[in-house]
Amino acid sequence: MQVLHTVAELRTSLAGKTGTAFVPTMGNLHAGHVSLVELAKQHGQPVVASIFVNPLQFGAGEDFERYPRTLDADCNKLAAAGCDIVFAPAVSELYPVPQSFTVQPSDSLTRDLDGAFRPGHFNGVATVVLKLFNLVQPRVAVFGKKDCQQLLVIRELVRQFNLPIEIVAGDTLREADGLAMSSRNGYLDASERIQAVRLQHELATIRASVESGERDYASLSATACRHLKMAGWRVDYIELRDAMNLQTPAPDSRQLVVLGAAWLGKTRLIDNLDFDLPAQA
Ligand code: PAJ
Repeated sequence: MQVLHTVAELRTSLAGKTGTAFVPTMGNLHAGHVSLVELAKQHGQPVVASIFVNPLQFGAGEDFERYPRTLDADCNKLAAAGCDIVFAPAVSELYPVPQSFTVQPSDSLTRDLDGAFRPGHFNGVATVVLKLFNLVQPRVAVFGKKDCQQLLVIRELVRQFNLPIEIVAGDTLREADGLAMSSRNGYLDASERIQAVRLQHELATIRASVESGERDYASLSATACRHLKMAGWRVDYIELRDAMNLQTPAPDSRQLVVLGAAWLGKTRLIDNLDFDLPAQA
């Protein structure tokens, strides 16, 4: 496996390759990331993974500085998963000058959910992903459903900029108790770690209620928020949406997703569960 740090090395290594499958990451890799690399292997060759903690997508006061950087361990996991090329540039390599051109996803995609709580976050994500796409020029790129709104933003980026890239979505990998794997889980102390699965339990409860016919989404969300607050969480949002566009479900919406973001101490966790409703008779 090649580990490359510069744009020039990457371009040389990928010259003439037309079937590249790409997995962008910020490193501190866990089994969820590894599953995306394994999925990428089914879709193209060579498999390229990037590791880059992108300053543009972190807001003031967020965890850019303390975000874990574990390149050696990450490379061992990627090599074991059969990755061919790791691209791990320095910030000065990807942003040699202040980035004065940025990608601004439409308001309809980013005005609520994580976009509302992390202003500018999706501009930073879309901008770095467009740069990485331009460098790697993949045929296929793999993203996790764990970051549901990010996946929608990337699909729209590809569509609206006419990029010849197929976006493949990977399922969310979970710990044995159901907690979605995340690099940020490492911030949790032992008692928070035990608590952390509550977010997913609340989402699963909402899903079960909707599947059994409950349609008062606002009341389901309010109940879930109340439960989390009583357990000491600070809730950003718990929302039931149409999985196709993340808008409020229409009466005929059949593909739904329940999304949540909440703080446990200093750690912000996000998760979502998607599900289908049977067509009405
Ligand atoms: P990062 O948080 O490192 O995630 C990299 C990819 O792994 C994303 O597509 C994310 O959705 C996916 N992922 C995270 N947790 C997962 C899990 N438990 N199971 C399956 N996949 C999971 O998302 C980013 O980095 C950045 O925003 C990036 C797209 C790299 C742009 O900087």
